[in-house]
Amino acid sequence: MSYCIEWLLTETDKNQYISNQLFQLKSEIDRLDRTWVHSNLVEGYLNDALTSLEKEAYSNDLPVQNNPLHERRIEKYTTWIEVFRLINYQYGRYSSLRCSYSEGLYSALCDLAVRYGNISPDSEIAVLGCGPGRTVADLAIHYPDNIVWGLDYSYLALKMAEKFLVSKDGLYDIPIRDTGAAGDISSTYSIASFGLDNVKLGLFDIVKPHNKKYDLIVCSNTINLMPDHEHAMDTITSMLNEGGVVVYADLAGWRLDRSAPQRVLNSMNSIIESFEKRGFRTLEYFKGGPYIEFELENRTEYMEYFYVGIK
Ligand SMILES: C[S@@+](CC[C@H](N)C(=O)[O-])C[C@H]1O[C@@H](n2cnc3c(N)ncnc32)[C@H](O)[C@@H]1O
Repeated sequence: MSYCIEWLLTETDKNQYISNQLFQLKSEIDRLDRTWVHSNLVEGYLNDALTSLEKEAYSNDLPVQNNPLHERRIEKYTTWIEVFRLINYQYGRYSSLRCSYSEGLYSALCDLAVRYGNISPDSEIAVLGCGPGRTVADLAIHYPDNIVWGLDYSYLALKMAEKFLVSKDGLYDIPIRDTGAAGDISSTYSIASFGLDNVKLGLFDIVKPHNKKYDLIVCSNTINLMPDHEHAMDTITSMLNEGGVVVYADLAGWRLDRSAPQRVLNSMNSIIESFEKRGFRTLEYFKGGPYIEFELENRTEYMEYFYVGIK
């Protein structure tokens, strides 16, 4: 498969990112538990990301310990454990599991985007913080004549999105830790690729300025992670064309351990106010869900806050 993840970072940030990620992916491979029956499967995916990254031109003069991205909390989302957790939440419905606990979020995002999107033949659509790409798939299937961008800060997540969305006739085994039908601690499930031609994937950092604009932006469960909510909202606003629509969803319920700039969007009202003070007209909002995460026997439910506005 020849496909290129586009770099939407400055040259300096790209250098920092690649030197950091090469280090991280290699250490993740080193740390894999070789007694785990699916470690080779994970290693294959990590090696694939590593090999593509090694082909990128970058200058390796930034020691990893001096890399500011290295210390950021969001780095967690570039690790394989987190990426594979997200794959399970996002693709459950489409996978061989045919089981999804968080489908309410993903189906609602697509419904809201289609209902309010106002898409013409040359409109461009972006999913910010798309992770392994589920919402990108939904929108690219719904709008086959438009380009749908999946933008994220995790190279591994984008590499997995590339397999699921772009490759033709692919069937990917994904490991999962669960209690399994036979009581196993670990099993696999599979995801068949969508073979879409209208998807573009880009490595981007939502806390950095971005010079491209879109007509529809979908962003879910990402802004709450950002170090400064106001700053992230400014980026989203600046990425939308006039008349463009934002479909936003996020969790807002566990903020007390966070710094003040990370607690700004902590209720339905604060989300509405934040968009309206940036010139958006509210089209719809509601809270509900729940967004459900499942790990071993533990189930955690979060309230999801949805907002749709036009700029
Ligand atoms: C909790 S996941 C949500 C993924 C997806 N939107 C969903 O709802 O399933 C957060 C995503 O935001 C991405 N992310 C974190 N920090 C980011 C940043 N600074 N710029 C772009 N994406 C970022 C992560 O890599 C991850 O894929």
